[in-house]
Amino acid sequence: MKIGILGTGDVGRTLGGGFLALGHEVMMGSRSAANEKAAAWAREAGGKASSPSFADAAAFGEVVVLATLGSATEGILGTAGATAFEGKTVIDATNPLDFSTGAPTLYVGTIDSLGERIQKALPGAHVVKAFNTVGHAHMFRPSFHEGRPDMFIAGDHDGAKRQVSGILETFGWGVADLGGIEGSRWLEAMCMAWVAYAFKHGTWDHAFKLLRK
Ligand SMILES: NC(=O)c1ccc[n+]([C@@H]2O[C@H](COP(=O)([O-])OP(=O)(O)OC[C@H]3O[C@@H](n4cnc5c(N)ncnc54)[C@H](OP(=O)(O)O)[C@@H]3O)[C@@H](O)[C@H]2O)c1
Repeated sequence: MKIGILGTGDVGRTLGGGFLALGHEVMMGSRSAANEKAAAWAREAGGKASSPSFADAAAFGEVVVLATLGSATEGILGTAGATAFEGKTVIDATNPLDFSTGAPTLYVGTIDSLGERIQKALPGAHVVKAFNTVGHAHMFRPSFHEGRPDMFIAGDHDGAKRQVSGILETFGWGVADLGGIEGSRWLEAMCMAWVAYAFKHGTWDHAFKLLRK
C-alpha cells in the first residue's frame, strides 16, 4: 500500500520505518523537499521511501498519516489542499499541545479537539485518531512485560477504523475504539495523562491497556 506521511519528526520517521518494515511504500513530506532530516531518512530507508513536500505526500498516499506539530497542522492541511485527502483514510497522530507556559497543556480545551478540527478541514476524508497516546519509541512493535498494549482510536467512518485497526494489529497493538471523531477530545486528554505520568515518574516507557471482563 502507498502511505503518505506528513511530518518528519520522531513520529513521522518511526511510523514511516514501521510501514516500510511491513513492505509498504512510504513518501514522507515536509515544509521543504530539501529537508535534510527527511532526505537522510529516505536515503537510509532505501528505494521505497522518498521525501518531498506535504502536498506531494498527501497526494501519494492511499492512506495518509498526520504527524505534524499540532499547532501547525491546520495550516499545513490548508496548504496541501483538502482534495488530496478525498476518500482516503487519514490517521491523525497529532496532539494540540501548547508549550507556551512550560509544561504542555491542550490549547483546544475539552469541548473541542484537533481531531475534530482536522475532520472539518478535510470533509471528504475519513479521519481516525490513533497513535497519539504513546511515545514514538513504542509505536512500532511495542514490547512491555505486562502484555500487548491497546491503541485507543476514534473516527466517524467504520471502514476507515477497520483499516486502521488492521494496521495497528500489524504494528503490534490491540485496539480500543471510542466511537466518533469527537472521541478525540478524550484521546488528546489521554495524551496529557501519558505525559503527566512521564513527568511524575521520569520515564517515557509506558502505554495504556484496556482490561475487559
Ligand atoms: N514525539 C512523540 O513521541 C509523540 C507521540 C504521540 C503523538 N505525538 C504528536 O505527533 C506529532 C508529531 O510529533 P513529533 O514529535 O514527531 O514532531 P513535531 O516536532 O511535533 O512535528 C514535526 C513536524 O511538524 C512540522 N512543523 C513544525 N513546525 C512547523 C511550522 N511552524 N509550520 C509547518 N510545519 C511545522 C515539521 O516540518 P518539517 O518537516 O518541515 O521540519 C515536521 O514535519 C505532534 O502533533 C505530536 O504532538 C508525538
